[in-house]
Amino acid sequence: MQDAIDTQAAADIRVTPLSPACGAAISGVDLTKPLSASAFRAIKAAWDKHLVLVFRGQQVSQDDQLRFASYFGDLGSRKKAPEALRARAEGVQQDHEKVLLVTNIKVDGQPIGAFGDGEFWFHIDSGYSARPYKYTFLYALELPSRGGNTMFSNMYKAYEAVPAELKEKLKGKKALHIHEYNRAKQASSSGDISGIPHYSHPVFVTHPDTGRKTLFVDRLMTTRIEGLDEQESAAILDRLYAIGERREFIFEHEWKLGDFLMWDNRCTIHARTDFPKEERRLLRRCTVEGEPLHE
Ligand code: SIN
Repeated sequence: MQDAIDTQAAADIRVTPLSPACGAAISGVDLTKPLSASAFRAIKAAWDKHLVLVFRGQQVSQDDQLRFASYFGDLGSRKKAPEALRARAEGVQQDHEKVLLVTNIKVDGQPIGAFGDGEFWFHIDSGYSARPYKYTFLYALELPSRGGNTMFSNMYKAYEAVPAELKEKLKGKKALHIHEYNRAKQASSSGDISGIPHYSHPVFVTHPDTGRKTLFVDRLMTTRIEGLDEQESAAILDRLYAIGERREFIFEHEWKLGDFLMWDNRCTIHARTDFPKEERRLLRRCTVEGEPLHE
């Protein structure tokens, strides 16, 4: 990044917290313009502090979105679902390998993107892979008249709320994350999962940038704590899901057209509320590639 292309100055940037849990609105930034090094640093500092950033009233082309996201790392490629699960996952108009259309729109009965209708339980984007995406960037193009809000939970706060005895018990433990390409049905670790994307990560992860501990567990995909018997694992996971989904840790974003959101997948989980399935919802997503996570 060079200050010579300093068209977006840090001095213009304003950060307004949106909830006591997490989330901040950033104003004074036009995402179509190149960022100066100082503007980049100001946005990154706000991101590390607030975990979810909201830029309102943006007019962002696909190229603008990819260029902006790439300031924060290598762009993530869309993950291909295994053949057996493909019908749940892929739309027909997904022509750029770094872009995912998050939408319920169908053309000639075929979904043009992913994640369709309805509620989407709390999850971590690509938490089932060895290198979960660091960041996700989502831009609103078409919205329903109500619902379809995206909720974010602050998993630093969740970690802090885990009782000391549980922290001690789970020290050094890993949990299995499985992606069955469902949105409101917990993945199952029973049976043969060799053909289903899955990966084990530490239950508690140290965020590589901030050095803070976070609870790395979600209701949709985290299905089993390794080294515990099935019943105990299920009982503890229920406690952890409930901590991660405490209302006081959640910021709920009500989308407006032109909203551009970015969140950190290492320290948040996110979910979507239901919306009328006969109404169209279309958002453009890209990501930044992740790295192995450690306790
Ligand atoms: C996602 O989980 O990446 C999409 C969230 C949404 O549709 O609001």
